[in-house]
Amino acid sequence: MNLDNELIIVKTDNNKYLAVIDITKEFITNEGKFNFIDIKSIPSIVKSSTDQKFKIYRPTFKEFILLMKRGPQIIYPKDISQIVIEANISSSSKVLEIGTGSGALTLYLLNILIGSGSLITLDISKTNQRRAKKTIERYLSTQDMNENYSLKFINQELNKFNFSDYVNEIDTVITDVPEPWDFFDKNIIDSDLFWVSYLPSITQVIKMKECLELNKFEDIEVKEVILRDWYLNKKIARPSNKLTSHTGFLLSARYIKFD
Ligand SMILES: C[S@@+](CC[C@H](N)C(=O)[O-])C[C@H]1O[C@@H](n2cnc3c(N)ncnc32)[C@H](O)[C@@H]1O
Repeated sequence: MNLDNELIIVKTDNNKYLAVIDITKEFITNEGKFNFIDIKSIPSIVKSSTDQKFKIYRPTFKEFILLMKRGPQIIYPKDISQIVIEANISSSSKVLEIGTGSGALTLYLLNILIGSGSLITLDISKTNQRRAKKTIERYLSTQDMNENYSLKFINQELNKFNFSDYVNEIDTVITDVPEPWDFFDKNIIDSDLFWVSYLPSITQVIKMKECLELNKFEDIEVKEVILRDWYLNKKIARPSNKLTSHTGFLLSARYIKFD
């Protein structure tokens, strides 16, 4: 089996690494090393130079986005899952993502939007979009998705985006940019639309909420996802010492076109 270029997790006793197999090279950790060519199948176990057993398997989405090389800060899995609910995403949603960034959210949305769903992702930064595109291609190549997805990149500043050019291609907007209200500089909404903004600061939330109210959005909700891991073994059961205290707020709303 030719495993060259395959995306894998290498799990040692103390760590997890994301790696791409290069059969001409070795994989070096401070717990020992091995030659990639020694991986004969996925999943499998290889022995390191220090006689440790390293587990080799394919990454989940969560492992991939948390361990991948990234540019801008990603949206964390706990927030991604809530965004999917708040934006009422299904396999047939037509999503505009504002702020491609490192492509973490883009990638998860693509996993869902197979079938009649579609995704347009906008970012002012060519560099970020180029990197995100590579990340997405790398992950999807391991997922058997057979290019059965619709993804369009738009390299543009938000305040220049013309919604009316895409109105039939969008029923949901998800933003991860500092000033999502710029969308409304040029655009008036006159069709059904779900809206979710991910914002780190409550002052941004307040401004964006006012903007959605002004634009006659309904069901405006503000929330924060607080997730706590637990440490559990035979003798101890307690919340983990590690707690990410704050990532971002979610502001969700819906425009309904009534007759
Ligand atoms: C925090 S990152 C998005 C991260 C992404 N959600 C993820 O999970 O990987 C924000 C992105 O928004 C882009 N951005 C910021 N302001 C913008 C604007 N006014 N118009 C278009 N893109 C903008 C930045 O270039 C950056 O790539």
